[in-house]
Amino acid sequence: MKQKVRWGILGVARINARVIPAIYRARNAEVYAIASRSQHKAEQAARDWSIARAYGSYEALLEDPDVDAVYIPLPNALHGMWTMRAAEQGKHVLCEKPLAKDAAEAQQMVEVCKRHGVLLMDGFFWPHHPRTARLRHLLDRGAIGRVQLVVGAFTFQLPLDPANIRLQPGLAGGCVMDIGCYPIYGARWVFGGEPQRVYAVAQWYTPHQSEPVPQLTKLAHLLQECVSCVRGLDDAALEQGLEAIRQRVQALAHSAPGAQESIDLGMQGMLEFEAGRVALFDCSFTMPFRGKLEIVGSEGVIEVPEMWLPPARATLIVHREGRQPEEIVVEGEDQIVHMIERFSQAVLEEGEAPVPPEQAVQTMRVLDAVRAAARQGQPVVLQRA
Ligand SMILES: NC(=O)c1ccc[n+]([C@@H]2O[C@H](COP(=O)([O-])OP(=O)(O)OC[C@H]3O[C@@H](n4cnc5c(N)ncnc54)[C@H](OP(=O)(O)O)[C@@H]3O)[C@@H](O)[C@H]2O)c1
Repeated sequence: MKQKVRWGILGVARINARVIPAIYRARNAEVYAIASRSQHKAEQAARDWSIARAYGSYEALLEDPDVDAVYIPLPNALHGMWTMRAAEQGKHVLCEKPLAKDAAEAQQMVEVCKRHGVLLMDGFFWPHHPRTARLRHLLDRGAIGRVQLVVGAFTFQLPLDPANIRLQPGLAGGCVMDIGCYPIYGARWVFGGEPQRVYAVAQWYTPHQSEPVPQLTKLAHLLQECVSCVRGLDDAALEQGLEAIRQRVQALAHSAPGAQESIDLGMQGMLEFEAGRVALFDCSFTMPFRGKLEIVGSEGVIEVPEMWLPPARATLIVHREGRQPEEIVVEGEDQIVHMIERFSQAVLEEGEAPVPPEQAVQTMRVLDAVRAAARQGQPVVLQRA
């Protein structure tokens, strides 16, 4: 059996600074290739991270027969298209969260990956931390009785830079898509089921300057490929040409339908599960950093500080009536390394993804429902899947 999965990365994204070192640390994975829309950027990243191959288009990386699996840290609106293209080339896919722009697209991605016999998983890190397994064990053995309420938050201050993919409606940005998905997935995970009805309110934001809507993004890619085909241009001339194209597309995007739609800068909501069990979630780009999960049972409470991004000393605090709080410590773990190792192992053993992609489709269904509820100002009932 092959010892290591050879990974390719689509896009020189900020999050790579955390994921690439984790792939290097994983015992069964190696970073083999990186692609960018710009050859120059790909080569720079390859130099910075000692990566063997650099490609100036995502397609070129997908055509490399030596790449076993791809990591997709692209804007949310591009997850679907590039996952499906990777699957068609026989590559296993670890795609960043949220898996897609909506549940219908996520379902399509699952089907395409199945059809091509490749694994698909979304890139939430926290399910792979050993503390999460510890928490599951506590809940399953009834450490706090019957769980009735889950309260989860993820907030941080995001500078309102319209160039940030999180603030662009055309790229499926928005706060609930970016970080509200964490407490929503967390609540589904704790209850082990789906909400029946949801309600949410949001704080809306309309960017003055928007990135291209998806059709224009596609057009930009095509133009970029055309420019890349021109031989004899030096890097500087090529970059100058690309910049001119980007500016033109940006200007077009201003007048394009949909370009001025709003996104949520924050959302607060309630998910009703069966038998009167409830989850409260909140997320915001305009509040100080918070990332905790609180689970309330009939006989106690478990508090999980920094649930989504645990420090090296990760803790759980169990409170029971009439007793001193009990702190449980899980130390020295890197959840990203665990995620990469678990997924790579499944690839090497031709097994199942450690978190089935159907889970991601269910999270997307709830994300669709809370976004609809916040837009309509009314509760939304979820149909049974
Ligand atoms: N799991 C986690 O904890 C975590 C944390 C942060 C982010 N994320 C997810 O990772 C993804 C990327 O986030 P990020 O903050 O790293 O994003 P980012 O720095 O903006 O990078 C996104 C990359 O996508 C490529 N791209 C392709 N088309 C683009 C377009 N039209 N506009 C902008 N970029 C485009 C660019 O790479 P090239 O120019 O090289 O082609 C860009 O560098 C998102 O889905 C986000 O939700 C996950």
